[in-house]
Order: sequence, then C-alpha cells, then structure tokens
Amino acid sequence: MPEFEKHVFVCTNTRPEGHPRGCCSTKCSNEIRDRLKALAARHGLKGKVRINAAGCLDQCEHGVTLVVYPEAVWYGFVTPDDVDEVFESHIVGGVPVERLRLRAECLNTKQCEHKGAGNKQSLP
Ligand code: FES
Repeated sequence: MPEFEKHVFVCTNTRPEGHPRGCCSTKCSNEIRDRLKALAARHGLKGKVRINAAGCLDQCEHGVTLVVYPEAVWYGFVTPDDVDEVFESHIVGGVPVERLRLRAECLNTKQCEHKGAGNKQSLP
C-alpha cells in the first residue's frame, strides 16, 4: 500500500473548564477536523490524504493546533474560517499557509509570548 501523501493531525483534546492551558476542543477543533475530512473526501483524496484527530499536541496555548506531515508544518490559532485555505493551499497545492504557521520559537518550548496569556492572543 502506498504511503499517504499528506497526513494531518488535528488536536481535539478536551480539558476541564478553567484549565490554565485551555484545550483545542473548545475552539472548534472537531469542526475543523470534520471539515478537513469532508474536503479530502470531496476531492477524491481517500488513500492519499489522511486526516486524524489527535490527542494533545502540547501546543495548547496556540490552539487550535494541527500538524501536516511529511513536511512537519505546524499551524496554530486555526479557526474554522481558515480550513478551506489550509486545504486548498497546502494539502492540495503543497504551499503552506505562512500566516498560520507556528513560529519556531513557539514550538516545544516552555516559554514563548503566548504561554501564560490565557489563550486569547492570536498570531502576530
Ligand atoms: S489541547 Fe490542543 S495542543 Fe494541547
């Protein structure tokens, strides 16, 4: 069986209300995953593009977060309004959506400008 050309993981983790890190499911991550899945099916990409729900990707302060492999492009603060652009530009066209990419200094770090800010900030 051939490899998937794109494999997308969308964090759909849920935490209790008031958790200091927040969670992606309260920011429409299930809707985002469902829309990506629907777009992949509509474009006949079954077997080429895989959209998966993921547990916490440990980028909670940047949620909704998703990552696209094999490129390992991380997106943050994704909303349902961004999904079609991510799909058309990156999944179909191969061009990442730069305005939604998480900056390197925000990934896998204990400190960045978004951590501890209550998840209210958007990408600069
Ligand atoms: S809850 Fe989504 S990255 Fe942690």
